[in-house]
Amino acid sequence: MLFAKTLIALISATAVLAQSPANAVASGAFFVGEDTTESSVTARSMFEKPENHITAVSSVLAFAAKSVNFQPASKPAKSLVTTLDAFVERVSTFPGFITSNWVDTSIKLNGSFTQLEKMIREADDHITHLPLIARNIRDLVPGYIQDKSLKKWILSLVVLDNPEDSGNPKFKLVRVVLDLSTDKDHTVFIPEQTAKLVIVDFHANGASLIANAATLSTMIPTIVSPRDAVDLFTSPKVIEDTTADLWAFLREKSFSLEAYDWQVVLNWKK
Ligand SMILES: *[C@@H]1O[C@H](CO)[C@@H](O)[C@H](O)[C@H]1NC(C)=O
Repeated sequence: MLFAKTLIALISATAVLAQSPANAVASGAFFVGEDTTESSVTARSMFEKPENHITAVSSVLAFAAKSVNFQPASKPAKSLVTTLDAFVERVSTFPGFITSNWVDTSIKLNGSFTQLEKMIREADDHITHLPLIARNIRDLVPGYIQDKSLKKWILSLVVLDNPEDSGNPKFKLVRVVLDLSTDKDHTVFIPEQTAKLVIVDFHANGASLIANAATLSTMIPTIVSPRDAVDLFTSPKVIEDTTADLWAFLREKSFSLEAYDWQVVLNWKK
């Protein structure tokens, strides 16, 4: 059952998210809800205790990103295109996550930044936090692009969500694929176009995280808080600035996993 669900999640989320070829990625992230994690959290207890699961989710996302070299805080926008797809695939196939819902739609843009935000805000009735998503996507449009060959952009968001009404932590992967143009001063404008909006909703399978805590904590020993995850997934405002190396604190050896199946690696308990 878990396997079937995982397989469906793999096919759909990967197929839906990995489509239009692009030249560059601007990445952002935000966290809604409360961080209920204990201050004494350990690699083991982040998987074992439901109140720590938001940190488990953040740590798995950071682990998946690092293992495929998707490092928005420290890598140039151009290099993130292929690693973003690899990251999405990694996340979609993690057996402790379940895809619950998604939106895959076209949005007509008339060139105004305000209208871009409005179109995203009104794109769907069921997806939570759309106004925040819309605002954050708008803020991801770079103000200035030095390299004029970068025309097709992916604006990508990781949204972490720890709902107060208990339940499992959730997260979303959002992407807007659009053309951006620059004037002679390299200032960015949005041409009239039909852009693509994709939002995939995931939640943690808490029971699975608990059942597999021993294996998971051995494989993913680095604790990454939701706040740190937000920093890791946020591109610097000045795209050329690659000095920020927020990844330095993540131990390299924790991320040596090759791109094979999580199920095999974890010897997953059903
Ligand atoms: C784009 O649409 C918005 C909202 O519908 C409108 O207020 C604005 O004037 C339009 N801009 C252009 C350039 O057509």
